[in-house]
Amino acid sequence: MLDEKKIDPCEEQDTRREVLPPCAFVLFGATGDLTRRKIVPALFDLQLQGLLPEKFVIVAFARRDKTDESFREDLQAAIKEFAPKLPAEGDEWNKFAASVFYHRSNLDDVGGYNRLSDRLKELDNSHGVAGNRLFYIATPPDNFGEIIENLGKARLNEPGLESSWSRLIVEKPFGTDLGTAHELNASLANYFTEKQIYRIDHYLGKETVQNILVLRFANQIFEPLWNNKYVNHIQITVAETLGMEGRGNYFEQSGITRDMVQNHALQVLTLIAMEPPVALSADAVRDEKVKVLKSLRPFSLDDVAKYTVRGQYGKGEVPAKEGETEKAASYREEEGVAEGSDVETYAAFHFHCDNWRWSGVPLYVQAGKRMPKRATEVLIQFKSVPDVLFAKLDCNTVQPNRLVIRIQPDEGASLEIGSKVPGPEMRVEPVRLDFKYGSSFDTPIRDSYQRLILDAMRGDASLFARNDEVEAAWALITPILDAWRDLSCPIFPNYAAGSWGPTAAQDLLQSGEAWHLPK
Ligand code: BG6
Repeated sequence: MLDEKKIDPCEEQDTRREVLPPCAFVLFGATGDLTRRKIVPALFDLQLQGLLPEKFVIVAFARRDKTDESFREDLQAAIKEFAPKLPAEGDEWNKFAASVFYHRSNLDDVGGYNRLSDRLKELDNSHGVAGNRLFYIATPPDNFGEIIENLGKARLNEPGLESSWSRLIVEKPFGTDLGTAHELNASLANYFTEKQIYRIDHYLGKETVQNILVLRFANQIFEPLWNNKYVNHIQITVAETLGMEGRGNYFEQSGITRDMVQNHALQVLTLIAMEPPVALSADAVRDEKVKVLKSLRPFSLDDVAKYTVRGQYGKGEVPAKEGETEKAASYREEEGVAEGSDVETYAAFHFHCDNWRWSGVPLYVQAGKRMPKRATEVLIQFKSVPDVLFAKLDCNTVQPNRLVIRIQPDEGASLEIGSKVPGPEMRVEPVRLDFKYGSSFDTPIRDSYQRLILDAMRGDASLFARNDEVEAAWALITPILDAWRDLSCPIFPNYAAGSWGPTAAQDLLQSGEAWHLPK
């Protein structure tokens, strides 16, 4: 691993050189939170970097009464609020604003979609967007069905012109269990082919998540050890300091397992556990991820009691600005949350991957809100060396090697190895070889939405979930959610806001193991 060394980004990977096809980006949920916080700042930043197609328009489809001009002002305000470092003024802003149009319609009115179709044809002529359409559904999930159906009825699922394309990005949540995910896949399949569909999981757009495949398969040194002969266990931690932030209503229907585990944590797990794909193509990568999901042992009711832990935060102290802490309310006191709610804000799982590579290696996953630190990290804990040589020393401190992949923040990876402590005796202590994105590359890490939107415009679905992949993840998680309804719930709250979750989570690990707590 390299430290403190600047590496020039490889020229071929400079996407600035790529000419992207013209495109009309049609946004549903255009007045929503995700649009303001993520999607529009991502699009504007792409323009600032010169990465958007030369011929490009944004069409917002929403029911509120707005004009092109008033909607542009809303977007400018959103960028100033949520991406204050981006200069939303002057020529660059004017250029961006000029590409934005507002189309007012109710989501359930097929007439509005027919009018949208006419408007897109006008834009093909006036702005040269060549019949290519990228629809982005960022509404609440209740609207997904009607939008898909009405797009189909207005024949917007078909390319605008011969040789052009029509694609659809679908936001999460993709269903709430196996049944609803299957229904959503079926309703998409009524109008769109699988190649047209881009199911978003923004974790896949994170550089460090993509780097898992590079770390594993572009280096010779890890893969020979990446199996049950050498790995003792694996941990994935997805921890956030935030509580509900006004999303209590949503979270009551979701819980941390639907919100972060079924999607983000399992995506990380599949990349860590998968076999080398035959190519980097979308289907080759996703084929291998699906195999991992299918190898994860299904949970019986007994397994759920034994191999899962649920938690919910009570009052506590959480990190605030500049190393200080502040008091935090309990989950049940948050806006939109029922007084006696049994919804989990923390969950931990011991997965068993019943395949040749991983048989016998515990895969632990924990995710939680109101933890002491915002950090997503993967720990690969290797087995100990044979206890022969250094065991004879008076002070035997030889530790097993540990590889920690820091998905966020402080993106990078570190490998702990044993080293001789300088001095007259033979004493061994663990030291860290550390790689940090920040000091190794000049290129800053951008928000994951940028990469995902670009990939959808390019027609590359490798970083999006396939229909069978989403259903395989739900097939694993749904029985756990069902069993939790039948099993008696722990007495909530069972961890204080600002702590590392319920003490029961420790019992999930095998003796001698402890949760890796991001520093
Ligand atoms: C979203 C969840 O998918 O991911 C949120 O709905 C969560 O609850 C967010 O806070 C975390 O994303 P990130 O990129 O900040 O780790």
